[in-house]
Parts: sequence; C-alpha cells; structure tokens
Amino acid sequence: MSKLIHYDSLLFKPICEKNLEHILEIEKEVVKNMSNKNHFGGLGKKNIEISMKNKNALSYGIYDEYTKELLGYTIFTNYELFDKTNFDLAKHLVPEIKYEDIYYYRVIGLNAKARGKGIMGKTINYFTEYARAKNAKAILTFVHPENGASKHNFVKNGFEHLLDIEFDNNNPRNILIKKL
Ligand SMILES: CC(C)(COP(=O)(O)OP(=O)(O)OC[C@H]1O[C@@H](n2cnc3c(N)ncnc32)[C@H](O)[C@@H]1OP(=O)(O)O)[C@@H](O)C(=O)NCCC(=O)NCCS
Repeated sequence: MSKLIHYDSLLFKPICEKNLEHILEIEKEVVKNMSNKNHFGGLGKKNIEISMKNKNALSYGIYDEYTKELLGYTIFTNYELFDKTNFDLAKHLVPEIKYEDIYYYRVIGLNAKARGKGIMGKTINYFTEYARAKNAKAILTFVHPENGASKHNFVKNGFEHLLDIEFDNNNPRNILIKKL
C-alpha cells in the first residue's frame, strides 16, 4: 500500500478517490497549456484509476510539503503495468536485463506556477532511489524529442538515449534508459 512520502520539501500523497478529481483538474490544465499536444496528452481518468488501483504502480499527487498545495502528479510503475510496446521493448531491447528488473517512469505533470524549481529533478531522484532499493536494474521512459524540459531533466539525471520509435500519426518518442 502506498503511503505519504516526505522528500526534499515535497510531499508525495497517493492518488486515491479523495484527490483524484483534483489531480484530473491539474492534468487538464497541463494538457490545455501544451503548445504541442503530442508532447504530452495526459493519461485520462481511466488510466489514472488503473494505476491508482494497482499495487505495483506508484501514483502520487505532488504537494508542497509546507503549504500542502497540490503542484502536480506523477506515476512510476514496474513491469506489471507495462503496455505491450513497453513490455516488448523491455524484453527485447535490453536483453541483458530481465524485464522484471526494469521500472518505467510513466508521467509527470506540474502546474505552470510550480515549474522552474527543480521539482521534476527531485521526483526523478526519489523514484530512482526507490527502484534501486527494490534491486531494479534499469528505468525506462518515453519522451517526445521536442519536449525540451522533460528530456533535459531525464538526461541531467543520468538517462541515456536507447532508441527512437514512432507512434501512430507521426508521433515520435525517444526512449531513454537509466541503468542502475
Ligand atoms: C516537464 C516538467 C514536469 C518539468 O518541470 P520542472 O521540474 O519545473 O522543470 P524546469 O522547467 O525547471 O526545467 C528544468 C531544466 O530544464 C531546462 N529546460 C526548460 N525548458 C527547456 C527546453 N525547452 N529545452 C531544454 N531545456 C529546457 C531548464 O533550463 C532547467 O535546466 P537546469 O535544471 O539545468 O537549470 C514540466 O515542464 C511539465 O509539467 N510539462 C508539461 C507536462 C510534460 O511534458 N511532462 C513530461 C512528459 S511525461
């Protein structure tokens, strides 16, 4: 069962029935303000609920530890919540690592006024330490090649380019990996 986590002036609070609507509002706001919707389309209520109910997904609202204001949300999973593409990638493209030992950084969205304060970097750090503590061997993530802030944060925190793929409708992604 997920619990409250205090980390470097942030509070990660599990997404649950109580805060789900508030999280969805933040997601809507983030999507609405994206200049290119292909960079980040959000997960939608159904997918967030699936993560929320799965014990292997870490689905959190990100709060300011002091003001308790909701700043954004993030979801990090292990292999059980990989969709087919990720599963095949984990299985075949990182052959030296068992897919059970790979985690997946799925999403982070911050409201506009919470940005520019290093919150994504702190969040990546927390979940990297979490994965390490679970003896994971690698973390994968998918980033739109032109999503500058997201890509910069992953690379700055030790993620490396693994492969490029293309979803339908001309929608490319860089797959980045951090080996632990
Ligand atoms: C991605 C996101 C979470 C990052 O938020 P953040 O933690 O506030 O990150 P910042 O905006 O402070 O950026 C941090 C770094 O990225 C750099 N950066 C910002 N925009 C950039 C760009 N367009 N290109 C390259 N680097 C960029 C900053 O200069 C800063 O660098 P530094 O740490 O070396 O000084 C936030 O922008 C967001 O919510 N975006 C919309 C949703 C999204 O795209 N999520 C990611 C995909 S799941």
